[in-house]
Amino acid sequence: MIKIDSNHSSNVFHFFLNRDYISIADAKGVYLYDVQGNKYIDASGGPILCNLGHGIDEMAKIIGDQAKKLAYVHRIDFTNPPLEEAAKKICMASDYAMEKVFFVSGGTEAVEIGVKIARKYHLDNCKPSKIHVISRWQSYHGSTAGALAWSGSTSRRSDFLPYLQNFTHIPPAYCYRCWFNKMPETCNLECADALENEIMCIGPDNVSVFLAEPVSGMSLCGAVPKKGYFERIREICDKFDVLLMFDEVMTGMGRTGKMFGYEHFNVVPDILALGKGLGGGYFPIGAVAVPEYIHKKIADNSGMFGAGHSWGGNPLGCAVVSKTIDYLDEHNLVEQSNRMGEYLDHKLQDLYSHPLVGNIRGIGLMRGIEFVENKETKKPLDPKFSFSARLAAECLKRGMFIEYAGGCDRGQSGDMIMFGPPFIITKPQIDKAVDILRQALGEDLLSTDSDVLTF
Ligand SMILES: Cc1ncc(COP(=O)(O)O)c(C=O)c1O
Repeated sequence: MIKIDSNHSSNVFHFFLNRDYISIADAKGVYLYDVQGNKYIDASGGPILCNLGHGIDEMAKIIGDQAKKLAYVHRIDFTNPPLEEAAKKICMASDYAMEKVFFVSGGTEAVEIGVKIARKYHLDNCKPSKIHVISRWQSYHGSTAGALAWSGSTSRRSDFLPYLQNFTHIPPAYCYRCWFNKMPETCNLECADALENEIMCIGPDNVSVFLAEPVSGMSLCGAVPKKGYFERIREICDKFDVLLMFDEVMTGMGRTGKMFGYEHFNVVPDILALGKGLGGGYFPIGAVAVPEYIHKKIADNSGMFGAGHSWGGNPLGCAVVSKTIDYLDEHNLVEQSNRMGEYLDHKLQDLYSHPLVGNIRGIGLMRGIEFVENKETKKPLDPKFSFSARLAAECLKRGMFIEYAGGCDRGQSGDMIMFGPPFIITKPQIDKAVDILRQALGEDLLSTDSDVLTF
C-alpha cells in the first residue's frame, strides 16, 4: 500500500486554487461534519443535489449489493435488469408522458445527449438543416463546450468563449428584473415572444430545439416564470417544429415539490434532461427521457443513435436511481419538498425587513434571495464587495453551508443565495437555518472591498 505523505501540501486541483478548504469527513441527515467534528447544516444540499439526505443506510447498501452482483456491463452490447428497471420507474413517475430513457453520468452529459437526440430526430424526419439551438441568457446547462455554449451564464462562459460555438440566446423569464421593463401585471409575455423573433431571424428551417430550465437554477436562483410563459413557448415551438427541451437537472426528482418541474406549467417537453437528484445524492448519474413519438421517429428511420458514454446505463448507477425513486415514494418526500418549501418561504419573508433583501423567490425546496443596494431602483450591490460570497462565508462560520451566485443583472453584477436542502429537513432545522442567515446578515459586509474570490 502507498504510504500517504501528509507533510506535503494538498495535491488537489481545487476550484479556488488558493483557498484553505474545510474538509468534510462525514454527513448524516441534513448535517455535514468536518474532520474536526464541526457540524454544518447543508442548506443547499451541495449544489442543490442531495435530495434524500445524507448517510442513508439503504442507499449505501444498494450500492454495495449491486457492485457485488454486477457493477458494469456495456450498454451498446447488453442491457441489464437495473437499467431496465430504472428506465421504467422514471417513465412511470412521469405517468408515461415519457416513454424511453437514455442514461448518462451527470447533468452536462444529459443536456448534450438531449440536444443530440433533437438533432437525430430532425435528421430522421428529413429536416437536416434543423441544427441551431436557442436557449436563454442567465441560464446554466453544464460545463462542456456544447452545454456551455447553450448556457447563458456570462461568468461561466467568459474564460472559454473561444471554444464555444455561436448559438443564440433570448432574454430570461426573470420578472424581478424584466428585460422588457414590464411588471407582472402589465406583462404580455414578451420574454416568451422573443423566442418567435429569434426563430424567425435564424430561420425556422434551421432551428432544432429550444432549451430552458423550467425554474432557473443558480444563475437566477429560483426565478419562476409567469403563468402562461411555457404555454406560449410550447405554442411557438409547435408552430415552427422546434423541439422543446427542459433542463430539469436541478428541478427534476421532486425538487420543486412535484416530481418534475414541467408539471407546474401545463406543458410537457419533447426532451427531458435529468441529473443531480436522480441519484439521490449517492451516485453520479443523469438521464434523458423522451416521449414515444421522439423515439419512434428514430426507431422507424435510422434505427440507431450513435452517441453516449462508456459509463452510460451502468447497473450500479441505475440501481441507485430505482432506489432513489422508491425512497422518495416510501417517505413521501416529494410532498415534503413542497410542504417544507412553503414553510421555508414563509420564514424567509421576515427577511424583507433587511435593507438589502430585494427579492425572495422560488418554488418547492428551491428558494433564492437576491440582494440589492436599493430596493426601489433594484440597483445591484457593487461587485467589489463580493457580498453574497462573504455572506455565505459568514453562514459557514456559524454552521451553515449555503450556495451563492452572482451575475443576475445581465452578467455584470448581482448577488444571490439559494436554499436547496435535502427534502427531509424539518421545521426546527429550517428555523435554525433562517436564524443563521439572519445573524450573518447582521454583519457589516459592505465596509471594505472584498478579498473573497467569487464567480
Ligand atoms: C440546470 C442545470 N443543468 C445542468 C447542470 C450541469 O450538471 P452537472 O454539473 O451534473 O454536469 C447543472 C449543474 O449545476 C444545472 O444546475
